[in-house]
Amino acid sequence: MCGIVGYVGYRDALGVVVDALRRMEYRGYDSAGVAILDGAGSISVERRAGRLANLEAELAEAGTAFAGTTGMGHTRWATHGAPTDRNAHPHRDTTGKVAVVHNGIIENFVPLRRELEDAGVELSSDTDTEVTVHLVSRAYESGPTAGDFVGSALTVLRRLEGAFTLVFTHADHPGTIVAARRSTPLVVGVGKNEMFIASDVTAFIEHTREAVELGQDQAVVITADGYTVTDFHGGADVPTRPFTIDWDLAAAEKGGHDYFMLKEIEEQPVGVADTLIGHFAGGRIVLDEQRLADQELREFDKVFVVACGSSYHAGLLAKYAIEHWTRLPVEVELASEFRYRDPVLDRSTLVVAISQSGETADTLEAVRHAKEQKARVLAICNTNGAQIPRESDAVLYTRTGPEIGVASTKAFLAQITANYLVGLALAQARGTKYPDEVAREFGELEAMPRLVERVLASAENVRAIARQFAHERTVLFLGRHVGYPVALEGALKLKELAYMHAEGFAAGELKHGPIALIEDGLPVIVVMPSPKGRAVLHSKLLSNIREIQARGARTIVIAEEGDDTVRPFADHLIEIPVAPTLYQPLLSTVPLQIFAAEVAQARGYDIDKPRNLAKSVTVE
Ligand code: F6R
Repeated sequence: MCGIVGYVGYRDALGVVVDALRRMEYRGYDSAGVAILDGAGSISVERRAGRLANLEAELAEAGTAFAGTTGMGHTRWATHGAPTDRNAHPHRDTTGKVAVVHNGIIENFVPLRRELEDAGVELSSDTDTEVTVHLVSRAYESGPTAGDFVGSALTVLRRLEGAFTLVFTHADHPGTIVAARRSTPLVVGVGKNEMFIASDVTAFIEHTREAVELGQDQAVVITADGYTVTDFHGGADVPTRPFTIDWDLAAAEKGGHDYFMLKEIEEQPVGVADTLIGHFAGGRIVLDEQRLADQELREFDKVFVVACGSSYHAGLLAKYAIEHWTRLPVEVELASEFRYRDPVLDRSTLVVAISQSGETADTLEAVRHAKEQKARVLAICNTNGAQIPRESDAVLYTRTGPEIGVASTKAFLAQITANYLVGLALAQARGTKYPDEVAREFGELEAMPRLVERVLASAENVRAIARQFAHERTVLFLGRHVGYPVALEGALKLKELAYMHAEGFAAGELKHGPIALIEDGLPVIVVMPSPKGRAVLHSKLLSNIREIQARGARTIVIAEEGDDTVRPFADHLIEIPVAPTLYQPLLSTVPLQIFAAEVAQARGYDIDKPRNLAKSVTVE
């Protein structure tokens, strides 16, 4: 959600900034803009609603007007004000000398706007952002910070409420960029005679792998020679975290696929394997980064899992594993609902917050609420150093590399894997599983990547089936036990990628209402449990299939290899390898991802950037 980049150095800033915006397109956006300082006292700004290509077309016509070695860019995901040209960033003050780009929400923008209007300032957009640039301009014109660009920006930052990453430039200070963050992301890229700031490292990884992560309420001033980090009062004694980016540009590029999402689906076996690496040593589950002592793991009497979207579906699966292995009660909550219903939390509650991006505002607020209530929070996150792991007591990283496609795929499988590690660590500490049982479970998990590869090897069968259903209006998904969250995830993928009406149901609930939806020809995807692992559920689901077939449904059945009993009921069959019941979702989810991607492509949609969606949702 909103991508921000700033550059000071020796290269053509426009090229650097536009390339960076292209790399951050995956975050989701509905308009884009750039500001370039010419070094002689003026700033050129261009901004356009819609795709980056619209902006590039305008820039191509502008010719040399955008020459300069300092600049910034923005992809906007609209919150305040429609996604139009006039609301697109950057915004400028009335002199045209100061420019700003912003990610987040300025919560006190209404009184600030009134203050400016009372002073006769004419605002030219509907955004909350624009107030900040006028305030900086006024602080620069007169008063204690007159003529002091950095001081003026800090003065204004201290007045702002809400969540924000802000980047300011001033035409009379070419070669200097001031940026700041509160609750939304900002990283510094440290080059040689050039510096970058951005929402995430994909923006500058082409130029440098040395980066610095900023903390909460920190401001940074970059010049070509270096950077200075302070708090909003200018105090320099603040903690930052320099780090070296451990993946390269190729990891962030499509690797020969038409879409990042297709590449990320292929990367799933590696993502699961990498998430497991190093977590079993000396006969024990080892979660180094977990920072929770065995004693604490023993003392928890309840677990909450909080997450959104696909991460929530991964969380639903955590419940099956953790309750089964530890006998601890587990509640799974949508993060956006969690803190509004006064959940019962205390020191003996473990809250597991699952987030690929580590930036999701709803999940972050749930973490904050849990901590206020003295619960201990463990984050499962794919993004090193993001806000959610920073604010949690402990973190377990999924190690599946950057996920660029907006729809979660490889991160989902890695999250499921991490959930199992947490469950096994709890079982081990609490003695609810013997060491040899824990070792056996870990061994089964280690075998999963090869089985995921086998599912991928039969992708063409899934794609061929998908093409036959590409122009349906509705698809239903049914599952039982761990197949139920998989059904929910399959439906979510189809909704978000193919814009098709899709619903997931627990198959046992069919007779309580949803069966009324079944009509002649309706496609229903059924996730079968193992006939051996869950014989009772298997036979119940077979009965459910009979019920819907009798009413005219066309069935697409995902079933274990060798499950011959299901064949007569499957109009289309997708086979997956035999696996332990709890781990089956690592396999059964994959055909549903492929199915949704293929349907969406057949309908002509961009599967990396589904409409209206953002990769990291940094507003509530
Ligand atoms: C769906 C999808 C979203 C995310 C959700 C949470 O494909 O990607 O539903 O799962 O927005 O995002 P994170 O995991 O970054 O907190």
